[in-house]
This record gives sequence, C-alpha cells and structure tokens, in this order.
Amino acid sequence: MKLTVVGGGSTYTPELVDGFARLRDTLPVRELVLTDPAADRLDLIAALARRIFTRQAHDGTITTTTDLDAAVDGADAVLLQLRVGGQAARQQDETWPLECGCVGQETTGAGGLAKALRTVPVVLGIADRVRRANPGAWIIDFTNPVGIVTRALLQEGHRAVGLCNVAIGFQRKFAAMLGVPPADVHLDHVGLNHLTWETGVRLGGPAGKDVLPELLSGHGEAVAADLRLPRALLDRLGVVPSYYLRYFYAHDEVVREQRTKPSRAAEVAEMERQLLALYADPALDGKPELLASRGGAHYSEAAVDLAAALLNGAGAPHQVVNTRNDGTLPFLPDDAVIEVQAAVTREGAAPLPVPSVDPLYAGLMAQVTAYEDLALTAALRGGRERVFKALLAHPLIGQYAAADRLTDQLIAHNREHLTWA
Ligand code: G6P
Ligand code: MN
Repeated sequence: MKLTVVGGGSTYTPELVDGFARLRDTLPVRELVLTDPAADRLDLIAALARRIFTRQAHDGTITTTTDLDAAVDGADAVLLQLRVGGQAARQQDETWPLECGCVGQETTGAGGLAKALRTVPVVLGIADRVRRANPGAWIIDFTNPVGIVTRALLQEGHRAVGLCNVAIGFQRKFAAMLGVPPADVHLDHVGLNHLTWETGVRLGGPAGKDVLPELLSGHGEAVAADLRLPRALLDRLGVVPSYYLRYFYAHDEVVREQRTKPSRAAEVAEMERQLLALYADPALDGKPELLASRGGAHYSEAAVDLAAALLNGAGAPHQVVNTRNDGTLPFLPDDAVIEVQAAVTREGAAPLPVPSVDPLYAGLMAQVTAYEDLALTAALRGGRERVFKALLAHPLIGQYAAADRLTDQLIAHNREHLTWA
C-alpha cells in the first residue's frame, strides 16, 4: 500500500508516522511518501520518520519529493494536512477579527472564513492532480476548515472523507474515565466539523447502554474543566459539547481573554521552533513529549482506522467522519457535510441513522451549514459581496456593520492568497 502525505513537512508528521508504525497490523503501509514545498523541512522530518520506523522495526520505505505529481502517482490514499500561508496566516486569522469584537479563531468565525478562502482553491487543485494520477485513490482530508473543504471536494466528485480528532479525543478520554478500553466506547456524536455534541456515550457499540448520565454525574467536573465551560451548563444540557462550542456559548468571554494574551498561533509557532530543534537530534527516534501539547492528539489513530477501512475494509467498524448528509439530519440539505458516526467500507462512508436532534443544537447546525454553503461559494467564485454575505450569515457575526468591516479586513489581510482580490 502506498500512502502520500501532502504537507508532509508539518511538525505533526511524526505523530502520523508513529501511528503507522504502531498500528501496522491494521494498516500495512509499504511506501510512505512525504511531499511539501519546503524541501529543508521535508528532509528533517523524513529523517526522523525513518528513525521512528527503524526503531519500531517497520520495514516500509519513506521517500520525499517536492513534486506533487510524482508524490501522488500510484498512491492508494492521499492525506491532506496543509496550511496555506503557514502559521503567519493563522496569526492574522486569530487577531484582526478581535478588532470587531469577534472571536479570533482559525476555523470559527471570520478567521475560519479567511482560512476557507485561502485553502479551498489550493486543495481542489491538489485533488485534481490526485485524480489524474490515480482516479481510484482516496483523499483523507485533515485540512481545515474540514467541513467546508470536504464539501468542496465532494461537490467536485472527488473520493474524499474529512477527518478531525475531536471525537477520538472524547472517546479516549471517556474510556479512561470509565475504566474501559477505547474500542468499547461508542459516541453518539452529531453536528458539523468543530460544531459537535456528544449526545450519548454507549458501551460496546451503537446499541449499547448509554452511560452519559453516569459519566456526567461522576466526572462532570473534569469534563467541564477540560472544555473550560461551567459544569452546571453541562448538567443543564445533558450532553457534552466540543470545546469549539465555547466560542459560541462563551463568545464574549473568549474575546475578552484573547485580547489579553498571545494568540494560539504565536504559542504554536514557538512550539514549532522547539519541535524542529528536537527533530534535528539524530538520537531522537520517537515523537517527543512536547508534540502532545498540540491540538492534534490521536489523529494518527483516527487516520489509520479510516485508511484501513477505505482501503482494506478493516479498522473500526464505525468511525466519526465528515461526509455528505444525504438525509441523515433531515433539517439540513443533502449536500451539507456533517460529522457523525458512519460505517466505513471500500465504498466510502455511510452515516449511521441519527435520532431526532434537539432544536437547541439543530438550529445552530442549520445556521452554520448555511454559512458554510455561502463560504464555499465565496471561496470558489470570489468577490467582496460573497464574502460579506457569508459573514452576515455567521451566527457569531450577523450584523451588517461588523460584517462589512470584517470583509474589508479579511480581504486586506489575505490579498496575496486571493486571486480575485
Ligand atoms: C484540534 C482540531 C484540529 C486543529 C487542532 C489545532 O486537533 O481538531 O482541527 O487543527 O486542534 O491544534 P493547534 O495545536 O494547532 O492549536
Ligand atoms: Mn479538527
């Protein structure tokens, strides 16, 4: 099996490679290709990746190239983990929205729209080249904003599934709290990427006993502390929102905090400097502890399971993925991309049925879906007015004066990435 990672020069790659090494029985990777426009990063990361394989006695080969067409040639699956504009663009996304009183976040609100506008055209260009090289290849998209990017890929007819680590993170955390193996925890997970709720925590599988009430009564304090939301709120809702919901449920509080401390982008840039220095040490042959401070914990395990299911019909039987709604959530259009449990096979991801969703959550999902639809149109067709309408539709913006100012800021800060601006 040949697997290609686009954005292979990322400091996250050792997490992925460690997963491929540990979980080689689930996903036997024979050839791993890392591709990235940054040749120096690629060499550094690949050298560490090879040491990780050697240490774990994995005899697969790891090659690198800056030539995308060569990288995807003959690949069975292509993982996309790129960041257009790097951490510098992220730093912008996280700061200018604050001037208008809007959250500064890389996937939520105005910053998320900026990221979508920069990213969608680049990802579609890559996907076309993947399809030309191998029409049967699967594209696994980690590239944010995953919901909008996956929707763009599916709309263009690509064989793509979107992936995020929020669900697997909850699964691992809840399993530890309950004292059971992670594979025994099945989440009733519903929503859109970075806008999800755990409405049930079942033991054994989709028909297992729901232990969410016990989990909340026994561990509510720890769950709430992790999300930085009041425990009383979780008790009142009776579900567990993802930490991205804090940007909605505590929006103004987050804005106040963000105004007084360095951005996450700045923190991550500093961590990346340290990580790259660690990776350069020829004695290092595993992922360093520091990598666990990044948000992407466990994403390699989610990726292995997903690739194993898509390529071999192996891996976990049900997985939380981003895929077409097609009636699963009847209050959303069929072509919306939702994040739910799905049965994943060589044919792709088929969502499991979802019980009726409380209007408290369905309303927000519907509004953000409408925003994502307008955001995708703006990303594909450009134009100030399309950007404005996407911002006006966003539940965290909604007022014309703010949407107008944010539109100007977004365009001013992203001109070099927007062909139409
Ligand atoms: C989580 C999200 C990812 C996001 C990451 C950010 O893992 O699911 O989509 O990219 O957090 O982590 P960072 O360390 O870059 O802030
Ligand atoms: Mn994510």
